[in-house]
Amino acid sequence: MDASAERAGPSLREMGYDPGHRRKILAVVPVFSDLLRMYENTPFCLKGRTALVTGGSRGLGREMAKILARAGAEVAICSRTPAGVGEAARQLSAETGARVEGLVADVGKRAETERLAKEAVARMGKIDILFSNAGWNVPQTAESIRDEDWDSLVELNVTSSMVLTRALAPGMVARKWGRIIYTSSIMAFVSTPERPAYSATKAALHGLVKANCLHLGAHGITVNCICPGPFATEMPMSILSADQQKRFADRTALGRWGQPHELAPAALLLASEAGGYITGSILVVDGGVTIRMF
Ligand SMILES: NC(=O)c1ccc[n+]([C@@H]2O[C@H](COP(=O)([O-])OP(=O)(O)OC[C@H]3O[C@@H](n4cnc5c(N)ncnc54)[C@H](OP(=O)(O)O)[C@@H]3O)[C@@H](O)[C@H]2O)c1
Repeated sequence: MDASAERAGPSLREMGYDPGHRRKILAVVPVFSDLLRMYENTPFCLKGRTALVTGGSRGLGREMAKILARAGAEVAICSRTPAGVGEAARQLSAETGARVEGLVADVGKRAETERLAKEAVARMGKIDILFSNAGWNVPQTAESIRDEDWDSLVELNVTSSMVLTRALAPGMVARKWGRIIYTSSIMAFVSTPERPAYSATKAALHGLVKANCLHLGAHGITVNCICPGPFATEMPMSILSADQQKRFADRTALGRWGQPHELAPAALLLASEAGGYITGSILVVDGGVTIRMF
């Protein structure tokens, strides 16, 4: 008979307590600790660090949040959908054994982005690592861009990164350590006729990186962009036709789409001590698509 179940009486069992469950959990603990040990005593270890990842409930943000948690960080993820972000936080915590909190915010709205920064600090105590990752694309050619779509892409793809940096950098300065990473895109370097707004907003992030890394570097803070190429997430899959998806894969050197977890190691490099001398960089992770001429 399990002692704690005996002490608590039958009500715990009625509530679904399964004495065997604890043994199952204990069996899983070594897996967690093996994962954590993978980074322990390496420059990739993030023990004692806290991170905020916007757009962390699925796609690339989820994988970035996961690797940070695996490396020992406490992580807050945000998205607009309460159920989605709550479930993602629960799953990430179960998968990594780390504390992962789900916060609800639409970072396409300035007031909500400002509130998110405050809430993240209040919930986590501090934010050492900012991954401003949430972004979207509305394909429209030059003569068909609607004002409201342009404004919403600027707000989400660029302004949210400025607002979060403005709000969270002072704490990093005070602690003399910080990592700020924006998710850009290879579409900042190359483009298509339907992507003026997307390319312009992603290229704007490169300007933010350059100015902010010069301003914050003396305080032990690095500022970088990650530029993903084609990664198989909801965003490109919902926008591109099957034929476009195939053509995109064919243009990469590797001949395939990237899987979201394949971006994560680059994220960990930029977030950890290992990337301590990398700042002002635009890190391209694209399966070799951008360098192809023909
Ligand atoms: N996938 C690619 O091939 C690719 C290539 C280059 C660059 N990128 C960039 O990578 C980033 C992530 O893209 P992804 O492919 O991972 O997209 P995704 O799979 O569609 O995931 C987007 C994430 O962002 C959240 N989100 C969307 N709008 C938001 C908002 N206004 N406020 C807060 N959260 C929001 C979503 O949750 P909710 O919908 O619940 O809010 C979700 O968690 C974007 O900046 C994108 O431009 C992606």
